[in-house]
Amino acid sequence: MRFVVSALFLFVLFSHTDAYDPLDPNGNVTIKWDIVSWTPDGYVAVVTMNNFQMYRHIMSPGWTLGWTWAKKEVIWSMNGAQTTEQGDCSKFKGNVPHCCKKTPTVVDLLPGVPYNQQFTNCCKGGVVPAWGQDPQGAVSAFQVSVGSAGTSNKTVKLPKNFTLLGPGPGYTCGPAKVVPSTTFLTPDRRRKTQALMTWNVTCTYSQFLARKNPNCCVSFSSFYNETITPCPTCSCGCQNKNNCVKDSSKILKMKGLNTPRKDNAPLLQCTHHMCPVRVHWHVKLNYKDYWRVKVSITNFNYRMNYTVWSLVVQHPNLNSVTQVFSFDYKPLLPYESISEYPEFFFSVFSRCIIRYHVTMLFGHAYADDTGMFYGMKFYNDLLMEAGPFGNVQSEVLLRKDKDTFTFKQGWAFPRKVYFNGDECMLPPPDTYPFLPNSAHQQYLFSIFTLIATMVFLLLTLC
Ligand SMILES: *[C@@H]1O[C@H](CO)[C@@H](O)[C@H](O)[C@H]1NC(C)=O
Ligand SMILES: *[C@@H]1O[C@H](CO)[C@@H](O)[C@H](O)[C@H]1NC(C)=O
Ligand SMILES: *[C@@H]1O[C@H](CO)[C@@H](O)[C@H](O)[C@H]1NC(C)=O
Ligand SMILES: *[C@@H]1O[C@H](CO)[C@@H](O)[C@H](O)[C@H]1NC(C)=O
Ligand SMILES: *[C@@H]1O[C@H](CO)[C@@H](O)[C@H](O)[C@H]1NC(C)=O
Ligand SMILES: *[C@@H]1O[C@H](CO)[C@@H](O)[C@H](O)[C@H]1NC(C)=O
Repeated sequence: MRFVVSALFLFVLFSHTDAYDPLDPNGNVTIKWDIVSWTPDGYVAVVTMNNFQMYRHIMSPGWTLGWTWAKKEVIWSMNGAQTTEQGDCSKFKGNVPHCCKKTPTVVDLLPGVPYNQQFTNCCKGGVVPAWGQDPQGAVSAFQVSVGSAGTSNKTVKLPKNFTLLGPGPGYTCGPAKVVPSTTFLTPDRRRKTQALMTWNVTCTYSQFLARKNPNCCVSFSSFYNETITPCPTCSCGCQNKNNCVKDSSKILKMKGLNTPRKDNAPLLQCTHHMCPVRVHWHVKLNYKDYWRVKVSITNFNYRMNYTVWSLVVQHPNLNSVTQVFSFDYKPLLPYESISEYPEFFFSVFSRCIIRYHVTMLFGHAYADDTGMFYGMKFYNDLLMEAGPFGNVQSEVLLRKDKDTFTFKQGWAFPRKVYFNGDECMLPPPDTYPFLPNSAHQQYLFSIFTLIATMVFLLLTLC
């Protein structure tokens, strides 16, 4: 009976959490406006964007931030960013504003702009690394001087309707909220100053909003079975005559083929999966106390260099990673990081109810089965465009956990894989390479994997 209740509970819970990322429950991008001075007709604000997502960075060609002014505000000037259009400034004589649009669209500047246009943490072409990958670098900022605005904290009106592209769709931003003013340390670190007023906007990501198809797929192989389990056909779309090029095609010799397009449209190599990225997991070696996996990532898009890419993998044995060759590795511990925040008591509480129900059903729970792999700086943090250099690879040495380790039932393959923050399509469980003589377990196995996928999803919550 308890089993049935727990199963029901989990089912009901899961039919209601769509945009929630169990591997990064607090992940968000926060945009903070600090008013640093009042001017005769408005204010000067420092706008800081923090990428608090563990493993999803804002990649090239970078972020685009938009909002709607509450009144008839204009932007006199900007440092460290610019608007894409000036709009109609015809009613201004002499000194003309930088932008008069009701809904300005702001982009970062490129590296190397003149010094007098720069600002601290600006000018990275809009690329913002993930918090888990580079906490110091996960920030972008600019300064804006606003006119025709309120000139005190009672008369200023907060901008509305924030939109963030990072670089494509996927983010939803909440309303701006006044928060306690930020305090800054002076450069000599001996005095604290305070913003005159501060407001925050929080944006969260949903893969469903970003695209209707996955962006990557996973294939498997092993030393104990010759079968290579390919990516599922049409994982990211189906092939037709016009949407891809064969790797033998003459077009590939044309100059300028790799130049990214304005709309960021990919140029894909023809494959049966039509994914821009494939992740391959090969179970390579078996030692007495250890086992070894080879991971490779292949780029099939001729128009994309992935800079600071990340790969998140969920597998129960990742709690015993012993050595990672030629990638950087960092465990993701959503459960522990949550418990640092007292305001998350409630959600921790509800997670623990989930944990209780999961434990009821399956006996034990994992919290540390997820890790992030990423490239080493200046070595392989660039996944080059499709072609001879369009791949990166690494090997991972894992210590066997005596209680759970097995090559049976596809246990050695990951439960979930994310490339650059988007979940990858896995092959169906009944096609995994099997340990010889375990074919009769296939039926059981597919049920097992179905349940296991659900469980591992849950277990990361608590
Ligand atoms: C955004 O993320 C940060 C860091 O994880 C967290 O402290 C904050 O509460 C989050 N904000 C919201 C509104 O979820
Ligand atoms: C506002 O955003 C900043 C990061 O930009 C964050 O450090 C701060 O905690 C946020 N404040 C609130 C009250 O959410
Ligand atoms: C506005 O500023 C006054 C004094 O400068 C301060 O006392 C008050 O708390 C501020 N109000 C808000 C909403 O920040
Ligand atoms: C918010 O912005 C979006 C995109 O810029 C626009 O389509 C929408 O109409 C705006 N909504 C409001 C209430 O201004
Ligand atoms: C990728 O980077 C290489 C080396 O920096 C460059 O030659 C190539 O044009 C880039 N390709 C794209 C699609 O940006
Ligand atoms: C290898 O795995 C495939 C796919 O699951 C399976 O059909 C086949 O029987 C396995 N080979 C052996 C020798 O067990």
